[in-house]
Amino acid sequence: MDGLFGDDVLRRPAVELPDGAHHVPRWLTLEQQRWIVARFREWSAGPVPLRAAKVRGHEMSVRTVCLGWHWRPYAYTREAVDVNGNRVLDLPEWMVHLGRTALVAATGDAHAGDEYTPDTALVNFYDAQARMGMHQDKDERSLAPVVSISIGDTCRFRFGNTENRGRPYDDIDLVSGDLFVFGGPARLAYHGVPKIYPGTAPEGCGLESGRINITLRVTGLTG
Ligand code: SIN
Ligand code: MN
Repeated sequence: MDGLFGDDVLRRPAVELPDGAHHVPRWLTLEQQRWIVARFREWSAGPVPLRAAKVRGHEMSVRTVCLGWHWRPYAYTREAVDVNGNRVLDLPEWMVHLGRTALVAATGDAHAGDEYTPDTALVNFYDAQARMGMHQDKDERSLAPVVSISIGDTCRFRFGNTENRGRPYDDIDLVSGDLFVFGGPARLAYHGVPKIYPGTAPEGCGLESGRINITLRVTGLTG
């Protein structure tokens, strides 16, 4: 009984999100989170290291490693041309499956994932100081949904409108294991991460501190 109605569960208010946006709290189990964190350590030791992308000459505070296609502001290539020129690791098949399952979980439609084949994953690492400014995910040629999973420290995630960086927006806490999906009319909504809550990573998630966010996307590119 202890913890069943704990503050960490009850404190999170239900937020009415724009059409096409979905939040599934605690979608991944701790065991799944730990397993993904172990993969994250492998990817970071792979052909292309974690790096802070430069936006107009300024390093982002978030560090990223990509799978399938390498993202840099504002293009995708197979090789990490702004890091070390190496080709990024392939997107593993389990991630495609995870993406399809995520769409079903988010929408409640058993067929929502049938046509979904993400071909890139941007894996972001946030330390306690890292932030991500409001932006649109618009370097993809496809408007298929973005599937986002969070592991480690809780963050404040700001999900806005498709017109500009300002209001209206919703502030949501994304907790370790949470799933967030944005597609349809919300696919090009501005979003960002204004804050990480240090020391909030749950025991057993595989990360002592910091936050991992994985976004699965369809680039719409070939080659
Ligand atoms: C992103 O917008 O690419 C990342 C969002 C997040 O870290 O939740
Ligand atoms: Mn984004």
